[in-house]
Amino acid sequence: MNDKKQDQKIQTPRGMRDILPEDQDYFYRIENVCRKMAREYWYNKIDTPIVEKADIFKRTSPYSEVVQKQMYNFKSRGNRELVLRPEGTASIARAYIEHGMKAWPKPVKLWYMGPFFRYEKPQAGRYRQHHQYGFEIFGQKDAVLDAQTILLFYNLLQELHLENVVVEINSIGLPDMRKKYEKELVKYIKKEGFDLCPDCQKRLKSNPLRILDCKEDGCSRVREGAPQIVDYLSSKSKKHFEEVLELLDYLEIPYSLNPYLVRGLDYYTRTVFEFIVQNEDDEDGAGLSLLGGGRYDNLIETLGGESTPAVGGAGGVERLIEAMQNQSVHPSYDQKPDIFIASLGSLAKKKAMKLYERFRQKRVRPVESMGKGSLKSQLKRADQLGVKYTIIIGRKEALDDKVTLRTMSTGRQKIVKESRILSVVKNRL
Ligand code: HAM
Repeated sequence: MNDKKQDQKIQTPRGMRDILPEDQDYFYRIENVCRKMAREYWYNKIDTPIVEKADIFKRTSPYSEVVQKQMYNFKSRGNRELVLRPEGTASIARAYIEHGMKAWPKPVKLWYMGPFFRYEKPQAGRYRQHHQYGFEIFGQKDAVLDAQTILLFYNLLQELHLENVVVEINSIGLPDMRKKYEKELVKYIKKEGFDLCPDCQKRLKSNPLRILDCKEDGCSRVREGAPQIVDYLSSKSKKHFEEVLELLDYLEIPYSLNPYLVRGLDYYTRTVFEFIVQNEDDEDGAGLSLLGGGRYDNLIETLGGESTPAVGGAGGVERLIEAMQNQSVHPSYDQKPDIFIASLGSLAKKKAMKLYERFRQKRVRPVESMGKGSLKSQLKRADQLGVKYTIIIGRKEALDDKVTLRTMSTGRQKIVKESRILSVVKNRL
């Protein structure tokens, strides 16, 4: 199809997708697990606008691909440069300063979930509009918080029953020592005469660290023998990194040291991490980066705020869904209904509807299929759903204000007064 025809076709812009009903369950499940983590680790939710001033990202990650090549920028009517946000951390740092959160009790813990935009070449796991969930902590520099951030993400994936995930970790120290390391790296690359891609040729001057992250053939060879950044850490940074690793050992979180993990954004200091999921069908075995993050102690200052240590991470919802689907993880894995309500006849149906509401209000999760005609087909549905108990309201029971409670595993049935059924079921569950 030629470009003109392509443009005229009524469809989503390239790299952007509708979220159809079949994917909504996954979104809902992931959001629920994020909410659970937020509740258990005491994070508060924050939503920032989808449109931000371009400057926020240009100042905080000036050399990154995300800012240099992937921003959706446009001019407002007042001629200001705005962007569709490409990532969340800089926006939240902006909000931290704007709302005087430095006066809030420390640490300030914030989480978010929403759409982000990057003008990338669309491919599996890379969309121009994607969604991220993220967790950030401001105001404390202790290594405990780096470890707890990793623990939170580890638990989040455990909660979703995901397997084959590896936590990769590294420390990239502070800007001063990083400059020294970058000099050595450039020296090494020049000495060995690697065949770098055009982007990495430019990075040799602007951002040599990112060469370590390039997937092009010639560039990936650099990693085979390049000096390692951990050998250049100051004693304080080294101690911080050791503490994080000791805590991960203590918490029994399996991790793998990756001396060449550098991350794509420029604001990181010291700890950086990524969670990689392996897909058994994947031929190159590189895995997919599910989420990433690290410490970013200088970010708030870069945006004009008071020096504030911070650590956090974020993951892509679409990538998580892809991993769940590859591993056949059902989105409603532990959202099984508690009880099935079967009914026969119009009075029974009315009573079943009312009972359904009574259970729902008391947080017992009922399910029904009143649209199905015969009792047999309703019980078949109850079996498929794997509920422990079914309540049957037949014509006679409806007239007598009674119901039958059936234990699905044994088939044993018991008549119970309608007014008592809620407490009987609650006691049994
Ligand atoms: P990031 O690694 O650039 O980090 O993005 C976070 C996650 O978003 C990635 O691990 C990936 O799962 C997902 N992601 C990124 N780009 C795309 C895309 N084009 N399509 C689908 N998924 C994508 C950040 O953005 C940092 N703000 C993370 C952070 C939070 N660091 C500290 N706190």
